[in-house]
Amino acid sequence: MARRKKIYEGKAKILFEGPEPGTLVQYFKDDATAFNAEKKAVIEGKGVLNNRLSEFFMTGLNNIGVPTHFIKRLNMREQLIRSVEIIPLEVIVRNFAAGTLAKRLGLEEGTALPRPIVEFCYKDDSLGDPLVAEEHIIAFGWASQQDLDDMLALALRVNDFLSGMMMGVGIRVADFKIEIGRVWEGDFMRLIVADEISPDSCRLWDIKTGQKLDKDVFRRDLGDLADAYTEVARRLGVLPAASAVSKPTLIN
Ligand SMILES: Nc1ncnc2c1ncn2[C@@H]1O[C@H](COP(=O)(O)OP(=O)(O)O)[C@@H](O)[C@H]1O
Ligand SMILES: [Mg+2]
Repeated sequence: MARRKKIYEGKAKILFEGPEPGTLVQYFKDDATAFNAEKKAVIEGKGVLNNRLSEFFMTGLNNIGVPTHFIKRLNMREQLIRSVEIIPLEVIVRNFAAGTLAKRLGLEEGTALPRPIVEFCYKDDSLGDPLVAEEHIIAFGWASQQDLDDMLALALRVNDFLSGMMMGVGIRVADFKIEIGRVWEGDFMRLIVADEISPDSCRLWDIKTGQKLDKDVFRRDLGDLADAYTEVARRLGVLPAASAVSKPTLIN
């Protein structure tokens, strides 16, 4: 088979042309970056874990009628996805104060918010993904008012799903980020969840101990990132086959 055409290489993933029109292959790299790529490392196994975890969350969302780009996993590091026109916004949902919200408003990390807060940041690495208001989004034509309403509804459904699912395994979803894209079905346009949902894009805290199980482990040098992601995967029962075989098992 001829080499696949690379469409885009980002910080954490590579997109290749898919086998059929309207599809792409998303490859998860082991590269970790933080603070707008000022801090970089290669974390062995991260890509495999994120591929599995994103598959797990997106399959769950698809099953409850929240549309996502996920079609199927192809191998340890790749998944087949629907190609979308990405809306250039990061949609952030926050349940507990952390990160830039805690900083901006002087809130102590971990403070419960009165209700989930949805923020939009303009996706532009050279500007550091600045927070923008609905006014900017509409004035600059990044999305329409209808798109915004749909994005808000999607984001809150993802939040309810993720928060409920993670609560079942003793993990609090402090916040997370999603990307949303447009797909066209004839003349009709729909918004679907794209990119990835993984511990790279969420803040996950153990409910009992407060232990961080997400990319903050890397941002703040709190330990082994792959161990933290493995713990999330283990609790959800989605460990990749290779690392599931750790101890010899008795066969009777
Ligand atoms: N279904 C999709 N169709 C088209 N582009 C997508 C889709 N899902 C994610 N993307 C884009 O692919 C890129 C994923 O690679 P990533 O390493 O996260 O890039 P970046 O460094 O830009 O964050 C992102 O730019 C994201 O917006
Ligand atoms: Mg990205």
